[in-house]
Amino acid sequence: MKDQLLINKAIEAMDLAYAPYSKFRVGAALLVKSGKIYTGCNIENAAYPATCCAERVAIFSAIASGEKEFIELAVVADSPEPITPCGICRQVMGEFFEKETIIHMANMKSNKMSLTLQELLPFSFNSKQLNK
Ligand code: THU
Repeated sequence: MKDQLLINKAIEAMDLAYAPYSKFRVGAALLVKSGKIYTGCNIENAAYPATCCAERVAIFSAIASGEKEFIELAVVADSPEPITPCGICRQVMGEFFEKETIIHMANMKSNKMSLTLQELLPFSFNSKQLNK
């Protein structure tokens, strides 16, 4: 898929953000193997740590719908530079995505950057390190 199409879906999802505390709206769109796109927005909470980022909302929505194969993800915010996923979201991506899965990052000024998960999260902790 053209990266801009997925970015446009993420921009649409931004409108649904629940961000009364930070006022920083984020949207994400995740393309899965079947061609379906799952979207997410950030959902904040008065107890700040209970907030969930847009990327995780999109990933968890796909997982909860039975998806297992992920192609690429786009994330967008009205940030000075293309928004880059937080550490927790990178770790969640590491659980479900391949190392080569591409993450498109963008802002509302059409600045874009695309990196693989391996580039975003090198030397990650993963299930192979659990001694089970
Ligand atoms: N946020 C995301 O949704 N994704 C990111 O990649 C970074 C941060 C949200 C969390 C919070 O609602 C707001 O942005 C400010 O941190």
